[in-house]
Amino acid sequence: MKDLKRIEIIDLLQGKADDQIEKEICVKGWVRSKRGNKNIAFIALNDGTIVHNIQVVVELAQFDQDMIKRITTGASLRINGKLVESVGQEQNVEVQATEIEIYGEADPETYPLQKKGHTLEFLREIAHLRPRTNTFGAVFRIRHAMAFAIHKFYNDKRFFYWHSPLITVSDAEGAGEMFQVTTLDLDNIPRTENGKVDYSQDFYGRETSLTVSGQLEGELGALSLGKIYTFGPTFRAENSNTPRHLSEFWMIEPEMAFYELEENMNLAEEFIKYLVSYALENCKDDLEFLQSMYDKELVERLQHVVETDFVRLKYTEAITILEASNQKFEYPISWGVDLQSEHERYLVEKHFKKPVILIDYPKEIKAFYMKENADGKTVRAMDVLFPKIGEIIGGSQREDNMDKLVARMKEVGIDPKDMKWYLDTRRFGSVPHSGFGLGFERLLLFVTGMVNIRDVIPFPRTPKNAEF
Ligand code: 4AD
Ligand code: MG
Repeated sequence: MKDLKRIEIIDLLQGKADDQIEKEICVKGWVRSKRGNKNIAFIALNDGTIVHNIQVVVELAQFDQDMIKRITTGASLRINGKLVESVGQEQNVEVQATEIEIYGEADPETYPLQKKGHTLEFLREIAHLRPRTNTFGAVFRIRHAMAFAIHKFYNDKRFFYWHSPLITVSDAEGAGEMFQVTTLDLDNIPRTENGKVDYSQDFYGRETSLTVSGQLEGELGALSLGKIYTFGPTFRAENSNTPRHLSEFWMIEPEMAFYELEENMNLAEEFIKYLVSYALENCKDDLEFLQSMYDKELVERLQHVVETDFVRLKYTEAITILEASNQKFEYPISWGVDLQSEHERYLVEKHFKKPVILIDYPKEIKAFYMKENADGKTVRAMDVLFPKIGEIIGGSQREDNMDKLVARMKEVGIDPKDMKWYLDTRRFGSVPHSGFGLGFERLLLFVTGMVNIRDVIPFPRTPKNAEF
C-alpha cells in the first residue's frame, strides 16, 4: 500500500484540503455504515474529529471480495483514494478508494453498535464503547471545548490556575459526604485503647478523605495571588440517584481577593455567558446534531441565555413568590427551608423564564464559611439557577472576620483547632473575598441539552456504579 500522508476528516469536510482535490490522499477511521449494490459500495467513515462522515466510494471489481465482506460497521480502516468533488448534497468531497487496509474487524454478530438508534439507557451499559456514537462524540467534543474555554476565560482575566489537593482532612461543605482515603487493612483495623480506629497507623497518620471542594485551599491561593481558579474532580458520597448528581464530578472554583458579592455575581454571569457563546461559535456542528436528535429548542435556549440579563433576587423574596404560586410542590415551602430543584425550576422556568441568581439565604442551610449579613439571620450566599437544571453554581462572599468565623465554626461543630491553616488567612492580612463553584457536568447538561448527567461524562460514577 502506498505510504500517503493521512488527512483528518474534519479538514477534508471543511475545505482545508481542497488543494488535494483530484489527488490521492489517505484517510483513516471507523466504519459508521456500508451500503451499496453489487458493483459499488459506499462507506461512511468517521475518525472522531467531527460529527460528519466522509463518504468513501468503492468500485467492488477493483478489490478482493473477501476483504470487502469483512468491512462492517465498527471496523477500522486505512484507505488511500482520490479526493473528488462530490455530486451528493451531503458533503462537498468524497474519496474514491484505490487501496484499503483493514486495521481491525468488528464482528457484526457481537459488535454492540452494529445497529443504529440505541437508547441512551442502553448506551450507558456500554459506556466503554458509546464514544463511538455520533451523540457521544458530539457531547465529548463539546466537553473538551468547554474545558478549553474555561482556561481561556480565566487566563485572559489574569486568574491563576491553582491546584487544590484531592486528598484532604476537611469537609469543606460540612455535609459529611466524604469518601475516606486509607491504607489500613480493613480486615484487621488497628484500634486505640478506647476501641476507636487508630489513624496514627494510617498512611498520613490521620483520617483523610477525597475532597468535596477545592475552595478552602483555593482561598489560600486567592489571599496571596489575588485571583485564582481551580478546575478538577471533586467527590461526594451522597446517595442521590438523580439525573443531576454524580459522586465524582468536576468543578471550577474561582476565588477572588477584594471581590464582594456583587462582583462575584457579575463574574459568574459573565463566565457562563462566555462559555455558552463559545459553544455557539465553536461547536456548531455538534450542537446542530444534538438539536436535531434530542432537543429542538437547544440553540435558541443557548442564545437566550447569552442575550438575557439574569434575575437577581433575595431568598426571602423567592419564598414569597413560591408561597403565592399556588403550585403543589412535593416539598412544602416556607422561610428557612432549603430549596429543592422543583422550587428552583419553578422560579426559572415558569415565573421569570430566565436564569436567576438567588442571594442572602438563611445561614442555617448554608456552609460555615459564608459571610453573615447585618440582619444576623442570612448570609451572602449566591446560587445561580438555570432552566432545566436548577442549581448550576453555588458560591458566596466569605466570612473574613476571624471572631465571627470561629463563632460560626463552633456553632456547627467544627473544632477551630483542626482548621488552623484556614483560620490563618483571617488571622494575617484578612481581606473581603468571594468565590463560587460551577458544576462542570451541570454546565454540560445545559449546553448539550442532555437530560441525564451520566451522559455528559465519559465514565460516570454513581452509587453502585463504577464498572471501569
Ligand atoms: O453548591 P456546592 O456544594 O458549592 C461548593 O462546593 C462551594 N465550595 C463552591 C465555592 O463556593 N467555591 O457545589 C457547587 C456546584 C453546584 O452548584 C453544582 O453545580 C455542582 O457543584 N454539584 C454537583 N454536580 C454534580 N453532582 C453532584 N453531586 C454535585 N454537587 C454539587
Ligand atoms: Mg450548593
